[in-house]
Amino acid sequence: MCYYIARGSIPRKRHVRHEVDSHLAFEEVFGTEGFSGTTSTIYHRHPPTAVESSELGEVIEPTYVQERALRMRHLRTHHLHAEGDAITGRKVLLGNSDVEISLCVPSEVMPSLFKNGQSDECIYMQRGSGRLTTLFGSLTMATRDFVVIPKGTIYRMDFDAPGARFLTMEFVNGSHIRPPKRYRQGGEGQFLEHSPYCERDIRPPQGPFGTPESAKVGGLYEVIVKARGALHSFRYLHDPMDIIGFDGACWPYCFNALDFAPIVGQLHLPPTVHQVFEGHNAVICCFCPRPLDFHPNAIRVPYAHSNIDSDEVMFYAEGNYTARRGIEEGSLTLHPLGIPHGPHPGTIEATQDQRSTNELAVMCDTFRPLSPTAIALAIDDAKYPASWSAQRPPELVGANGVSATR
Ligand SMILES: [Fe+2]
Repeated sequence: MCYYIARGSIPRKRHVRHEVDSHLAFEEVFGTEGFSGTTSTIYHRHPPTAVESSELGEVIEPTYVQERALRMRHLRTHHLHAEGDAITGRKVLLGNSDVEISLCVPSEVMPSLFKNGQSDECIYMQRGSGRLTTLFGSLTMATRDFVVIPKGTIYRMDFDAPGARFLTMEFVNGSHIRPPKRYRQGGEGQFLEHSPYCERDIRPPQGPFGTPESAKVGGLYEVIVKARGALHSFRYLHDPMDIIGFDGACWPYCFNALDFAPIVGQLHLPPTVHQVFEGHNAVICCFCPRPLDFHPNAIRVPYAHSNIDSDEVMFYAEGNYTARRGIEEGSLTLHPLGIPHGPHPGTIEATQDQRSTNELAVMCDTFRPLSPTAIALAIDDAKYPASWSAQRPPELVGANGVSATR
């Protein structure tokens, strides 16, 4: 959902005969919002409609714990172990009718191709690298990459080595994940000068196209489609990613968090300046290593704030959190609407001489309340809600500062 590009072989006009190696190519319009939204036009070697068989598989709707208790949470995702592949290994932790947030530590290779038919996905690679092979070509995934995959994109993820960990924010309300409109001319055009990133930072898919022959099982190509809260198996005689080219503005891409140019100020700036993507009823922000506020009397930790209209999720991907005991790499906190939150006691004084932060965190603010799953509750830190108390135990007092993000 980005800007116009063209790849491979396409005809000069849309919807005309296009032959490659004396064979007619088969056109597929890959469009959003009916025929009124962003579109890509794809050219296949074989008809993309030629399904050999299909069947309903597993129902995978997450089960949330419907609790009325209002409390902050600290989920220790680094306690989750490797399990499943890059799709089946995703453990949903928090969610609502707009967004599902999951953590995955894959231990297996994906046996099939996958298509999320109901949601755009924004993946954050906390650790690991590898290749994302998609309908639109290939992408190299690296640590600290955001990987944005439009719904309907067939893909597979392959990692270079064991140990990959990634966070996924899936917009189950069907909205599209895109750069904030205020960063772009007219909301959809060229990235503007005040934007903290631009076209040069976005990595589109590249050729060659097609599925590796090794992904063929039993003489057929299988695509597992996620839709209607279930997985469906579709099998094709021909490679469903057998394209020769495409053009348009709907394609997956990578964007590395270190390519985000942080906006810093004399005095504390709100998380709005760290926003990287938006969708309906949720935003995604990226807190990168950066200088801290430079006014001589600046308070270098955030002021306490009441997020009265949103639940705030912060994923601490990497950096030095030793000053805030209990928060580690892989910590994921939830600060729900209705409770003000901010820096721990003593940290304003402790950070007075701090000039920079090396932390890297991803935030997802949702405009409707999130609920936890049983998996989340199993890794929840029960001491976290009381860690701001004036009576808090000494082991929770930070020595030198606090996370500078939130
Ligand atoms: Fe906050």
